[in-house]
Amino acid sequence: MAFLSLFIYFFVVGVATLWIAHAPRPLQQTLTASDLDNWLSSEASIARGALLDLIGNDGKWAEGAAPGVLVASPSLDPDCKSTYNGCSYSDTLANNALDFYTWTRDSSLVFKTLVEMFRAGDTDLLPVIQEWISSQARIQGIENPSGGLADGQGLGEAKFTAGETAFAGSWGRPQRDGPALRATTMIEFGWWLLSKGYHQVAANIVWPIIRNDLSYVAEYWNQPAFDLWEDLYGRSFFTLAATYRALTEASVFARSIGVSCAECESQAPQVLCLLQSFWTGRYIRSNLDTGRSGKDASTLLGVIHTFNPRSECDDATFQPCSARALANHFRLVDAFRDLYDINADRGQDQAVAIGRYPEDQFFGGNPWFLCTMAAAEQLYSAIYQWHHLESITITEVSLPFFQSLHPTAVPGIYSSSTELYHQLIDAVRTYADGFMRIVQTYASNNGSLAEQISKYDGSHVSANDLAWSYASLLAANRRRNAIAPPPWTNPGAPSVPSTCSATGVPGTYSLATISTWPPMDGFPTATAAPCQTPSSVSVTLELTASTVWGEDIRLVGSSLDLGNWELTRSITFSTDRYSSSQPIWWATIWLPAGQTAEYKYIRVREGYVVWEGGVNRQLNVPAVCGEKSLYRRETWQ
Ligand code: NOJ
Repeated sequence: MAFLSLFIYFFVVGVATLWIAHAPRPLQQTLTASDLDNWLSSEASIARGALLDLIGNDGKWAEGAAPGVLVASPSLDPDCKSTYNGCSYSDTLANNALDFYTWTRDSSLVFKTLVEMFRAGDTDLLPVIQEWISSQARIQGIENPSGGLADGQGLGEAKFTAGETAFAGSWGRPQRDGPALRATTMIEFGWWLLSKGYHQVAANIVWPIIRNDLSYVAEYWNQPAFDLWEDLYGRSFFTLAATYRALTEASVFARSIGVSCAECESQAPQVLCLLQSFWTGRYIRSNLDTGRSGKDASTLLGVIHTFNPRSECDDATFQPCSARALANHFRLVDAFRDLYDINADRGQDQAVAIGRYPEDQFFGGNPWFLCTMAAAEQLYSAIYQWHHLESITITEVSLPFFQSLHPTAVPGIYSSSTELYHQLIDAVRTYADGFMRIVQTYASNNGSLAEQISKYDGSHVSANDLAWSYASLLAANRRRNAIAPPPWTNPGAPSVPSTCSATGVPGTYSLATISTWPPMDGFPTATAAPCQTPSSVSVTLELTASTVWGEDIRLVGSSLDLGNWELTRSITFSTDRYSSSQPIWWATIWLPAGQTAEYKYIRVREGYVVWEGGVNRQLNVPAVCGEKSLYRRETWQ
């Protein structure tokens, strides 16, 4: 009997717990302002800790990652359902410690916030920032499917393994926002170096990395590429906004270290010119050359990334308080109002959960933490600008935004001495807090933030503990607390050329090497990671060979790892990047450093084998400190 009661008790409690775990959590919670304040201050420290956990080689979620490398998420998806795990790639790896990836975009945005925090006094972050900069110098030199450093093309590669080797599988290539974002983050750090008198460090250690990225964006900005979501090919507002910022601030920074960046000066106005064509008159279209609506949270991300606290509410640069950016905010949020179950029953003046774009199908299309927080961050930044300007201007363009929060608002200029000014500030802040409350509602009890929030019940979807989600929380919270990022250009409206021309200038590229960071007085020092000769090297072979249906390409060679010339032990190549215009077969093999071997490619079809002609190919696997990967492009002979 006692046993039966116990059973019934556990059954009832178990079912109730399960139900609670899966029941939709309503947004309409009676959270007070201080609930949010308290939650944000504890969540900010969780977010900071989570970011450090995601950085190699000490981070507890970044095992196997090189020093300074930030992994996007610790998610290892055994079913290969998400894009975070290149399954065919990891299957090929014998020593499978490198199952996760670092994206240049994610890591640059995360470190942008960490650098901001460091400059504001969080001095413990110095070693990790230095290690990240060193890691980026190495990553710039990794030969990859987008190309190499000689002509800059390799800088357009979006992601690498956490162990700093190329990812050779099929992917959206190239993506041009990474170099621009990385340049900005390093310039932010560079300004700190200059302010402390470390001119040599800024000029000799950091600038060579920045210069490669600037060369890349100045050379290729006007050519199409994949956008930040890695799925649309064309030209993207976010990428160009990041490019404009990088080129603009780099020209000022270059002068401060006694060099010049002529390509920055010549290209920045042209980028700004093209950026104007993303404005539809009602909202910012996220991508040119696309059939989608163009309503996309990447426009919010572009606006917050280019926030300049010294600027006016400038429309040309889409500042957070500009009429254009506010109208865009209004129409974008509206596009998500009726899209998700968890947004049901929300009034026009209430925040809703925001996804990447309404047409999104990734994991079924859900709200994202980072997009929802971008909506809040733009508004906190706008409030900062209004306070700085001591007035709010309402125009016909921004009127729908203001009227949704204050129905009687009309166009005009409202100085900070008027009552309406304060009413508008309060309404905008309450609205912005609404986006943060959504994040509070759906964050895990332990504070963890995934990539997506289920549109049905608010549970976490896709990658867990996404670094970018944590960085978004830290940045939004800082803006909420009226802490602005450092200014990045001279005050005053930049001029948009009257006619745009399609330009781009050839860049110069050279590998930046950082051996050690000099000690900096009163600051923690990066423990110099001794350059080690790896025991094995990731060798990626890319073969151009047109094949017919049913035909496979394999490799066989003289060493044990290459099959010892036995066809049954030959190495399989992958076709996931094969197309009729680019018939590419590829494989990544881990080989002992220093191994030398001969090899040949073979075609196999229905048991028949055809060997390529010519002499055997020669492979010398490097045994050199720091060289963890080798990339070869070859053609069937
Ligand atoms: C997919 C996102 O669309 C992309 O923006 C991001 O860089 C990667 N996930 C990694 O977080």
